[in-house]
Amino acid sequence: MSPETATPTTAQPAKTVPLRATGIDPNHWYVVASDREVTRQPLGVELWGRAIVLYRDTQGQVQALEDCCPHRLVKLSDGRVVGDRIECMYHGWQFDHAGACVDVPYLGDNQKLPTCRIRTYPVRELDGFIWLWPGELQPGQVLPKPMGLPEWSHLNYIASMTTIDCQGHFSFLIENLMDMYHGHLHQDYQAWASAKLEQLTESPDRVDALYEAQSYYRIDKIWAVAQLFIPAMRKLHPEPLRVSYVYPHWASSLGQEFKIYCLFCPVSATRTRAYLVHFTSLHAFGRLHQLPVGFRQWVKDRMFNAAAKLLEGLVEQDVLMIEQEQRSFEADPHRKGPELNPAIAAVQRLIRSRGQSTTAGLAHE
Ligand code: FES
Ligand SMILES: [Fe+2]
Repeated sequence: MSPETATPTTAQPAKTVPLRATGIDPNHWYVVASDREVTRQPLGVELWGRAIVLYRDTQGQVQALEDCCPHRLVKLSDGRVVGDRIECMYHGWQFDHAGACVDVPYLGDNQKLPTCRIRTYPVRELDGFIWLWPGELQPGQVLPKPMGLPEWSHLNYIASMTTIDCQGHFSFLIENLMDMYHGHLHQDYQAWASAKLEQLTESPDRVDALYEAQSYYRIDKIWAVAQLFIPAMRKLHPEPLRVSYVYPHWASSLGQEFKIYCLFCPVSATRTRAYLVHFTSLHAFGRLHQLPVGFRQWVKDRMFNAAAKLLEGLVEQDVLMIEQEQRSFEADPHRKGPELNPAIAAVQRLIRSRGQSTTAGLAHE
């Protein structure tokens, strides 16, 4: 990890910027890739306008550098990894994990290595994902732990995941996730119905909303897991539905059975990537817990992604709505509809308070 060297985009007071152009607070962990996506082959990702290249060194550690060769400003992610270094495709300059140029293949005897240095980013590999801190580091600053997913390696949870890639500002996605009144959209993939907001709490870094809802799922017998793919097996019953904006990510639970996370990577003011991770609990199966750990791990691995189709169906419907909202905003940034759910106003307050302007030239509110 080396000190930050790049200059962030110019900050303006957040209140002068439209909500749908509000920037991210860079002093948080963002999820830029799943751990499986990062290999010895360089991977180019983008986080709020920053191009970043990820790769694994010879120890398997993930390294993150600005995805830009300082020689001619081309993408390093088109190059290759040699040992612990990343090599530019164009002239073969090599850079170490601290971003220093350490080799130029045609360096003359009387020439010195260029002193250019690429920006590096702190990264953590935790619970199946790569967490990256885009903020400026102060000397001696100790970073907090990323949020993580406690259920990821827990034997009592089966994980499924899918990616979200939508042409929309991240505020549209988090509003969608915090607004449980949109179950109407998901007639085919319904997980809950009849949601009613019971409680809303706000703090500087999070919004928590508790809804009382009717759940379609009760995973109380081992074969009941089949409800994930057989709609006819689902029966309505009341369950608390908790959703939280744990800035900049989202966490939720539906009764004891389901937990879902959405891990955000806002790409730009008009594009958002995210990972939706679903956990089905096996807590109800007492006898399963007495079985050997190796067998339980086998069950967990075999059932990985059992709910993927369900997640993909939900995401497709949500993305359709979010992209329409984005297009409507672009057509007329001043037009607003009435909003009846106070959780949405709370989410918007949090985005504004954490955000900063990164989009010059947009109309002010
Ligand atoms: S552009 Fe990268 S080495 Fe020349
Ligand atoms: Fe949805």
